[in-house]
Amino acid sequence: MGFHTFDAENAGRLENAAKRYRSVSAEELQRALSLTGTETVADLGSGTGFYTDDVAVFAKRVYAVDIQPEMHEYYREKGLPENVELVTSGIEELPFGDAALDAAFSTMTYHEFATETALAELNRVVRPGGRLVLFDWSADGDGEHGPPVDERYSASEAAEALAEAGFEIETEQSRVETFAVVAVRTE
Ligand SMILES: C[S@@+](CC[C@H](N)C(=O)[O-])C[C@H]1O[C@@H](n2cnc3c(N)ncnc32)[C@H](O)[C@@H]1O
Repeated sequence: MGFHTFDAENAGRLENAAKRYRSVSAEELQRALSLTGTETVADLGSGTGFYTDDVAVFAKRVYAVDIQPEMHEYYREKGLPENVELVTSGIEELPFGDAALDAAFSTMTYHEFATETALAELNRVVRPGGRLVLFDWSADGDGEHGPPVDERYSASEAAEALAEAGFEIETEQSRVETFAVVAVRTE
């Protein structure tokens, strides 16, 4: 793993809707992904499935990818939407074929997997023209909530890494404590 991985013992904290939607709302996530209901999507580092559920409403199939089986167990007990499939895997080596995904997204997790290997793997599995959407804690934030500031990336650092991995940056946004980057896999 290499980076600091969220402790599965704190999984319950990821279910505090009032706090979570203050950082990233379900609506802005759906807008960034721009789904029509026909897409196959992956949630990268899905945790308890807090945002997976929101996206599943607008997608044909969602793969909830997480490296910790305990997180999947929590999500299974909470109740899985019919079109969500749990995938226990690191993002660095995904069990998907080339161009198998119409889109992929990640919420508050990029800082835990931001390696060249992981981004190259995402470039392999997202189809040309498909979206990669990242929301995460920003290095420009004050660190009052979320992981320590020195473990985070800024919007421009994330955008630069995605561009180097073969994605075209559609939008890049710095907010109070978080950032959003929407990228499209080049042809
Ligand atoms: C901070 S939690 C966020 C969970 C979820 N995205 C959310 O917003 O509620 C990060 C999750 O990413 C998972 N994770 C971290 N590194 C990963 C990796 N390299 N591959 C797959 N999952 C990873 C952790 O196990 C954890 O469940």
